[in-house]
Parts: sequence; structure tokens; C-alpha cells
Amino acid sequence: MALRNVVIQGDDILTKRAKEVETIDSRVIQLLDDMAETMAEYNGVGLAAPQVGFLKRVFIVDDGTGLKELINPEILEVSGEQDGEEGCLSVPGMIGYVVRPAYVKIAALNRQGERVVYEGTELLARAFCHEYDHLEGKLFIAQARDLQEIE
Ligand code: CO
Repeated sequence: MALRNVVIQGDDILTKRAKEVETIDSRVIQLLDDMAETMAEYNGVGLAAPQVGFLKRVFIVDDGTGLKELINPEILEVSGEQDGEEGCLSVPGMIGYVVRPAYVKIAALNRQGERVVYEGTELLARAFCHEYDHLEGKLFIAQARDLQEIE
């Protein structure tokens, strides 16, 4: 495994729609391994492939309940609302408030190519939405309120 450089706001790749993964080959597996290591290094809750320079529909999240790897994710259902603080490894030193669904149901492929379905609330629902947005080329700061610098 290896750490990957995290792309910072201002790089075009963060504004582009990521492409579907056609084949889960060794390159994708390596990417997933490297993303997990990179996310852990920076204490992130989620990381999307475009954030490490790979314009593919892949993200990982870990809200403390275990690492989840999502390839070609599809949001199946959302409901409710939650308002809370959010940050992003690609927007270092900034936090803001974002309204997200309270509940998210999402399907994806895992690294074995099997379909998996996750349901999340609270932080996990927020992370699913934040990371999914990365695949659509959207950063949280576009919809955040009360953006502020942190140390
Ligand atoms: Co982010």
C-alpha cells in the first residue's frame, strides 16, 4: 500500500463527473488499498477517487463502524434532514454547515464485484452524500453555510 497525494480545491478534477468503473482490476484494488491508507493517515471519514487524482466512481467511508468500499454507487433512497458540520480533505482548514438527508440507502459494488446495499443515518448518511457529490464534481463548500477557517 502507499499513500496518495490528496488533490486540493482548485484542481479541475474535483469539478468533473467521475466515470463508471468498467472492470474491477488490480489497478482498482490498489486504488482502494491506497485510499484506505490515505484516509486513515489524514483521519478522514471519507475519501473519493477524484480526490487522489483518479476520475472514477469509487469512494470509501469509515464513520467508525468499519471501512466501506463503494464502486459505481447509486443512491436508492433518501429521507429526512440533518444539519451539521462538514469538512473535506480537499478543502483543508475549512468547515461549514450542510443540510443532508437524515437517512440514505445506497447500492454499489464491492471489490469482489458483488452488489452491496448500505443504509446510513447521522454521520454515515452525511458521508455517503458528501462522497457521492465528489463523484458528481461537487464540493461541500458550494452548499455550505457559515464557512469558517479552523486551525
Ligand atoms: Co470531501
